[in-house]
Amino acid sequence: SRWKSSQPQLDPVDRSDEEGGGDIDWDNLGFGLTPTDYMYVMRCTQEEGGFSRGELARYGNIELSPSSGVLNYGQGLFEGLKAYRRADGPGYTLFRPEENARRMQHGAGRMCMPSPSVEQFVHAVKQTVLANKRWVPPQGKGALYLRPLLIGSGAILGLAPAPEYTFMIYAAPVGTYFKEGMAAINLLVEEEIHRAMPGGTGGVKTISNYAPVLKAQMDARSKGFADVLYLDSVHKRYVEEASSCNLFVVKGGAVATPATAGTILPGVTRRSIIELARDSGYQVEERLVSIDDLISADEVFCTGTAVGVTPVSTITYQGTRYEFRTGEDTLSKKLYTTLTSIQMGLAEDKKGWTVAV
Ligand code: COI
Repeated sequence: SRWKSSQPQLDPVDRSDEEGGGDIDWDNLGFGLTPTDYMYVMRCTQEEGGFSRGELARYGNIELSPSSGVLNYGQGLFEGLKAYRRADGPGYTLFRPEENARRMQHGAGRMCMPSPSVEQFVHAVKQTVLANKRWVPPQGKGALYLRPLLIGSGAILGLAPAPEYTFMIYAAPVGTYFKEGMAAINLLVEEEIHRAMPGGTGGVKTISNYAPVLKAQMDARSKGFADVLYLDSVHKRYVEEASSCNLFVVKGGAVATPATAGTILPGVTRRSIIELARDSGYQVEERLVSIDDLISADEVFCTGTAVGVTPVSTITYQGTRYEFRTGEDTLSKKLYTTLTSIQMGLAEDKKGWTVAV
């Protein structure tokens, strides 16, 4: 490739302002944007031929050409991952950050962008956490959400890849994603608007997958639903995912989730939950999940970095409301506890999924 990546140049530094997290109400974090102190910025230009030296900068607005590739043609990707304050000592843990790095590399190939190396990505995430450590919520109150971006920042007029790229990470303390908090959510099956199509970009985390679903999401929210479930765009028969997360259905001892064959976002939480469910003796299939599989399920839940493991209490399809099991005695609750215990350092990480900061 034209672009190359060099090894990280900077050691992790602690530039955190020592004072605590301001006036934050840690008990009511939600998923709103709280501006933090620092962001990480690394550029990649044609002259330099790759990503070289990144640095922390004060969190704030950035300058972009009006003709940048990202503003005009949507050449951009994002990621999402969380840093937790450890339960068993000082420091923080990241959950599988290399997976986010690899997913960004894969998406960059699809979007004709160069991408940071896995080492550069993870190093940048660590620096961003340390520089904003006063914003990491207390144990059990939430996490510091890291939002890496990779954008075509160079100016271009004709449709072509941008001549310069910017990789950035900003951070914000977050609690639960849905306004329902930890409670089970109601979903609506959307039949008109589709999120992805075969051959499209549904399987990569491009920024351009998200604005097109706002219409469906906002209409559903105005009717009291937390999110929308999309159907496949060819048969309109198979459920794919929600606007913000992946989907699992449980029936008896069997668990199914839509296979990631191009239209499904390959979630890091999704993959982890598949493994944890198998470890606890469940048969987990990645396959087509039909509307019939969905409405006849015992239990339904969503997974994602932002949403964690969120139980679904009802799904409305063609005007009929279907109900599912929720509460303490469910697989989603069990998997939620197992996963968050690893993430927060409450349980031994036998999988080697966590990375210390
Ligand atoms: C995440 O779960 O981290 C995401 O990127 C989904 C986003 C809609 C909040």
